[in-house]
Amino acid sequence: MHIFENISLKNYNTFGIDAKTRYFTKFSCEKEIPALLNHINSLKLSYMILSGGSNILFTQDFPGLTLHVNLKGITKLSESGDFVLVKAMAGEDWEDLVKYCLKNNWGGIENLTLIPGKVGTSPMQNIGAYGVELKDVFHELEALKVNTGEIHTFNKSDCRFGYRNSFFKQEGKGRFIILSVTFKLTQKNHFINSGYGAIMHELERRKIDKPGIHDIADVVRFIRTSKLPDPEVLGNAGSFFKNPVIPAKQHEKLKKRFSEIVAYPDRSGNMKIAAGWLIENAGWKGYRVGDAGVHKLQALVLVNHGKASGMEILQLSENIRKSVKDRFQINLEPEVNIL
Ligand code: EPU
Repeated sequence: MHIFENISLKNYNTFGIDAKTRYFTKFSCEKEIPALLNHINSLKLSYMILSGGSNILFTQDFPGLTLHVNLKGITKLSESGDFVLVKAMAGEDWEDLVKYCLKNNWGGIENLTLIPGKVGTSPMQNIGAYGVELKDVFHELEALKVNTGEIHTFNKSDCRFGYRNSFFKQEGKGRFIILSVTFKLTQKNHFINSGYGAIMHELERRKIDKPGIHDIADVVRFIRTSKLPDPEVLGNAGSFFKNPVIPAKQHEKLKKRFSEIVAYPDRSGNMKIAAGWLIENAGWKGYRVGDAGVHKLQALVLVNHGKASGMEILQLSENIRKSVKDRFQINLEPEVNIL
């Protein structure tokens, strides 16, 4: 294990923010864990775990140790009937896992194609897109408790998944290092999730009436690339805010003033409002100040056109929040972790 000093994290966060960390180390093998823990536990400095950096906004340099989890490997553990259990190590690229599963004809995560990030962070915010959330295919995960060095297994209920939320974003934050995630996928009789409006529309356009998992992946890739910016080309962390959930009564009132407002009922009888619509209709779509901006095709995505600092993006996000609050009396909550 080698500890580097004063390293730029620009290539370790998809916003491309040039923040520095005082110390930096990677671990690629579980055997390195005891030495690493000794180091962390004896260190008087703070530490943070950083994987794909796809859901984080750095607003300052980090004075502690940044730990980059680089564990690799994807293994089929078992199969039974229609199902297969597949274990992926935390440092695998999410998209590599999706491709591997499709190649093996394992179904369940095809709707989640092209989500930037690593396997290890996927349960943290219960990644989701186009009608599927990670919790729908989650079996269990292994995580290391930093202060004891013990490895714990978490099942689905232990993880307390919610909308872009989990135990690891709440009480468990910073206390565990996720080492691997096991998924329960289908090897035949796949569940096809084609109910999301944009998917249905695109399948119809392609005249596909009995889609397979490969068709779904193709269509989702098409939809995503048509409006979500590729972080390799334009720095971003996906949706910057969560879609706010408001009481149905409040939605009815708003609808009287803003008849076009986009909203969906959620399971609890409340309404989930499309934050992208609110931001666009508060006039921000395509806005740019310096190198910080709002994407021109999807207003929920804030972008770094080049050299924006984390503070500049944060300031822009605060201005958006304030203007949405003034216009619609709705509070937007960041989805991205702000450090
Ligand atoms: N809309 C606008 N203007 C915009 C953007 C959106 O009016 O600029 C309206 C449109 O009516 C559109 C609706 O909002 O139909 C929903 O937009 P979209 O389908 O793009 O989804 P989203 O609600 O903005 C959520 C997730 C995305 C995920 C998509 C697809 C959150 C915070 N975001 O976005 O996840 O890819 O649904 O399922 O829930 C992410 O979490 O980083 C992310 C990209």
